[in-house]
Amino acid sequence: MHTTILITGATGTVGQEVVKHLAMLDSDVRIRAGVHSVIKGENLKRLPDVEIVEMDFEDQDSLHAAFTHVDKVFLITPFEEDQVQMAKTLVDEAKRTGVKHIVRLSALGADAEPGIQLGRWHREIEKYIEDSGISYTFLRPASFMQNFVTYSDKSIKEEGRFYQSKGEGKVAYIDTRDIAAVAVEALIGEGHEGKIYELTGPEALSNDDVAQIISEVTGKQVAYVDVPVQEAKLVMKEQGVPEKLADALVELDEVYKAGYSNEVNDEVQYVTGKKPHSFKQFVADYKECFV
Ligand SMILES: NC(=O)c1ccc[n+]([C@@H]2O[C@H](COP(=O)([O-])OP(=O)(O)OC[C@H]3O[C@@H](n4cnc5c(N)ncnc54)[C@H](OP(=O)(O)O)[C@@H]3O)[C@@H](O)[C@H]2O)c1
Repeated sequence: MHTTILITGATGTVGQEVVKHLAMLDSDVRIRAGVHSVIKGENLKRLPDVEIVEMDFEDQDSLHAAFTHVDKVFLITPFEEDQVQMAKTLVDEAKRTGVKHIVRLSALGADAEPGIQLGRWHREIEKYIEDSGISYTFLRPASFMQNFVTYSDKSIKEEGRFYQSKGEGKVAYIDTRDIAAVAVEALIGEGHEGKIYELTGPEALSNDDVAQIISEVTGKQVAYVDVPVQEAKLVMKEQGVPEKLADALVELDEVYKAGYSNEVNDEVQYVTGKKPHSFKQFVADYKECFV
């Protein structure tokens, strides 16, 4: 019997790594990549044995088609205002179509009390999955190393600077390839039911440390510019980021600044048997994004 695994948000930072990892395995798993913008899904089409399905979280028919005959789901929802409702709709569909296991991409600190808005949104989704009766594994990663590619590559390339509001706070950044490796193990391995994995990289770094590593590895001088949080919020507003999300991001930066995300653990190695990527290795592998 084949196992069919659906990955939602399959073209995103973590989703595409999970699809790639699964496609590289010599297994009889059927991989179904849930793709929103078809054009972004073109890259995934080149991978062996990957079925592409179009999915719009707000279109019930597309969800039903994507979830039908699926055994397990890697559930990713984007960082958007209505992410809780989106995730609940996906869980309802999973229940309706008889999905047996959900691996959910959550976030570190989701269970902190009282925590921050972002964590509370994730915890509400986790609780909804727990209450659904479907077997689950929750992955709660720290901040992604790849955020430096997604949000800072342009200013690093053009100005040799990156702008954030983390002060001198150290963060246990994790490479999304390591999150994907844990996700794959949770999807195809045994004994991960009901487990919660809090995932960090191997070291906690301040943004000055990050700037130094990028400079050393690329040979290009890069500096960190610390932006006061309220100034950062104004920029986000100008860029059209909804107030609710901007507030959540400001709150998250305060957490980083205070050093609440600096604890390193060995859960990646515990689950996968491999050491997580260092920041230095990450920069070496993504060098062309910075120079
Ligand atoms: N970034 C971090 O440091 C960090 C740390 C911990 C946890 N997280 C959590 O990670 C999650 C985000 O994961 P990610 O960074 O891999 O996501 P991402 O790169 O932002 O990608 C989001 C994916 O969702 C798809 N999508 C967006 N709207 C959709 C819709 N209406 N219907 C169907 N698909 C839709 C996107 O496709 P299109 O692009 O085609 O729309 C894309 O494939 C969030 O829950 C966030 O809280 C992030």
